[in-house]
Amino acid sequence: MTAQIIDGKAFAARVRAKVASHVSRLKDDHGITPGLAVVLVGEDPASQVYVRSKGKMTTEVGMESFEHRLDADTSQEELLALVDRLNNDPTVHGILVQLPLPDHLNSELVINSIDPAKDVDGFHISNVGLLGTGQKSMVPCTPLGSLMMLRDHLGSLSGLEAVVIGRSNIVGKPMAQLLLGDSCTVTICHSRTKDLQEVVRRADIVVAAVGRPEMVPGSWIKPGATVIDVGINRVPNGEKTRLVGDCEFDSCAEVAGAITPVPGGVGPMTIACLLANTVTACCRANDLPEPEGLTA
Ligand code: GUN
Repeated sequence: MTAQIIDGKAFAARVRAKVASHVSRLKDDHGITPGLAVVLVGEDPASQVYVRSKGKMTTEVGMESFEHRLDADTSQEELLALVDRLNNDPTVHGILVQLPLPDHLNSELVINSIDPAKDVDGFHISNVGLLGTGQKSMVPCTPLGSLMMLRDHLGSLSGLEAVVIGRSNIVGKPMAQLLLGDSCTVTICHSRTKDLQEVVRRADIVVAAVGRPEMVPGSWIKPGATVIDVGINRVPNGEKTRLVGDCEFDSCAEVAGAITPVPGGVGPMTIACLLANTVTACCRANDLPEPEGLTA
């Protein structure tokens, strides 16, 4: 079997187009422009690239982008004061504090100081609890994008065996909750899992989110399974480097029914879902109907 390649770049473009059309309706019918504030503390090069890209795509879909760049030595009080200002600013519907924060700042405290209704990352403890109890919440972007691709490819996920490799708060745990919400039988694996290969082997859906280059070979994959590779790992390639996922793409693609490539799979969906979450937050804040197909 040769797997169908799930084109995340094209899928993300469709999500952004949907967001843009909803934004234009909000402007035309209600005079509301959704706004996303991104806070970057310090000069981490990877974070700077992400933040620039987020700002560009936010304006491209017609939303307002507010960028706050703070010095690396910003104090906890200063950062909390900024978050408080954004919480109380009616033109800001979504707030994202770029992680990782410098070591002297308490990330948990900062994230939990964001108004949960504006927490477009879905990291606030209230949103984690709401998702875990099947209530309406803001959903973390990468798992949301992965779920959208799974639903698009498989239709109903009900009754399928899903295995999530990785137990991070950002991807693994919320992904498992979303799959459970769609009535999958869910197993979460991690570094202490005894026979990972055996567990992966029974999965109709594999979501790999561990950050270990090419850890999952095709020999572990059940024929016809759908593989969502969340990993983005930079590995040496002669003089240069190349990006690989957590799955060994070529061997997995020989066995799987469908697979997301790296790059060009889950990656582009993350920012698209951030924009989707911002428009959702804006609709909720204004008691307007939420866009269809952009939420969990
Ligand atoms: N750093 C890398 N990815 C993310 C993300 O999705 N959200 C935040 N807040 N920080 C990140």
